[in-house]
Amino acid sequence: MALLIHAASTQWIAIFITCALSLISIAAYRLLFHPLAALPGPKLAAISRWWQIRKIIIAKPYELALHDKYGPVVRIAPNEAYNISFPMRLSPTDSHTESSTPLDKGPWYDMARYQLIRRSGGPAFTASNLKRYEPKVVEAMQRVCERLDRLKGEEVETSEWMHITVLDNILEQGHNWGDLELNVAFWRRSTVLGHLPTLRVLLNLFPMLKKYVFWVLRLPTKHSKDGIGLPAHIAPSLLGQLIHRSTSIENPSFENGQDLMEQLLAIRAKKPKFELVYARGMAGSSVAAGHDTTGSSLVSILCRICTNPDLQRRVEQECRGERMPLAYEDRPSTITSACVREAMRLQHVTNISLSRVAPRDGLHLHGYFFPEGTILGVNPTSFARNKDLFGPDADEFKPERWLSGDEDSLRTLERYSLLFGGQSRSCPGQNLARLIIGLVVPRLFRNFDIEVKVPEGGFDNFPPQFWTMLSGSKIIFVPRQDSPVGG
Ligand code: HEM
Repeated sequence: MALLIHAASTQWIAIFITCALSLISIAAYRLLFHPLAALPGPKLAAISRWWQIRKIIIAKPYELALHDKYGPVVRIAPNEAYNISFPMRLSPTDSHTESSTPLDKGPWYDMARYQLIRRSGGPAFTASNLKRYEPKVVEAMQRVCERLDRLKGEEVETSEWMHITVLDNILEQGHNWGDLELNVAFWRRSTVLGHLPTLRVLLNLFPMLKKYVFWVLRLPTKHSKDGIGLPAHIAPSLLGQLIHRSTSIENPSFENGQDLMEQLLAIRAKKPKFELVYARGMAGSSVAAGHDTTGSSLVSILCRICTNPDLQRRVEQECRGERMPLAYEDRPSTITSACVREAMRLQHVTNISLSRVAPRDGLHLHGYFFPEGTILGVNPTSFARNKDLFGPDADEFKPERWLSGDEDSLRTLERYSLLFGGQSRSCPGQNLARLIIGLVVPRLFRNFDIEVKVPEGGFDNFPPQFWTMLSGSKIIFVPRQDSPVGG
């Protein structure tokens, strides 16, 4: 018996030693012999991706600090590097990258869905087509302003009310049922699982494991049962609306379409391969990807303007003048639109690296070689603060930079914006976001005296997530007596 126990324990010791040696060999390979071994970065990150995952779980921004410490290129995981510069080809003439073809997206992405959105639904999302929805936004703002008016100067959460404002614009739903928190939880989980593709597949196969895995990873468990990035209460009614609308329109027209759903059905009538389920999926994913992103931008815009009394006064003057300025312009011509662009520059809704994969022959960048399959990413929020590109004051809020008239720096600001992602793989809903933000901001300043309180350190405490938002700020909308509500 003693002999048996002895044999068993020797066996366990052998297994333990083999496992330990294997782990040590993997760690040594990754640190010393891996093709990315020469890259600067935290040693633990070079050994295991868990270094990065932990940072995301504790929700503290870390990428800017890494660049400050290690320079423009940082190894963030065994096979992944961050870059404050250009990991993806931005345009065919871009001299900052030595890549000759656009890079594929990293494992985070579902390429099939992306390509579907771009190719089939593209015509519905052009700026010229979306112009037809301007009156709807103006009408929605009439309702929003009436609702804000009824708050009678009560202090409320900025994030909550900007979320409600966007939902009214996109969905004509005048409330969010307090579901913003579910969205924050959804994006925390998605960001972590997006970096663990194998685990994500496993959880899709065995959803009953989710609650244990979330518990182990200390991820929020609260979630919308539909789990698709939509507030829980909105998902069922949205799906119901989409199904009803998509089955009740008989002869959909693109030219005279009442809404995006009708226009997508008209596209489908001409392109039978664009199945009904795709059209519905596109309309649904547009709401899912559009409500919190646009809401997040509005929060940043209001917080930035209203914590700067001089700028706020100038914005109010413009917005209360005879002609309301359009607050989102490609080339800002007013202080209002300069403030909007500057707030969105500093607070991108993405504060995690957008990843791409090095192409077949690898890629030379910043003096390093990245072999095929290396994941390369750039964090749009860090990128916007690149001092080499945008000047030594890149991390300061200076709307005047957009009005400087300095052609070179304006072109740099325009050309190297990752606000809506990298060019050919950018956000399909950006024109809608521009339209909504451009019309919402001046209407708020025209109708209300706005006071915002941002908690200490608020602007820089932006959780590292694929979607993120300034949280904790409070807002007061005091109705102006001499202004027609919603005007
Ligand atoms: C200010 C508001 C917005 C910002 C800053 C924003 C930004 C982004 C970014 C950075 C991406 C990822 C691009 C990449 O991976 O390279 C994205 C994807 C996406 N956006 Fe937006 N977005 C906004 C509003 C909207 C709106 C209003 C819609 C809907 C009409 C929308 C629909 C989408 C969709 C469907 C995707 C996913 C594309 C994919 O599958 O890769 N977005 N957005």
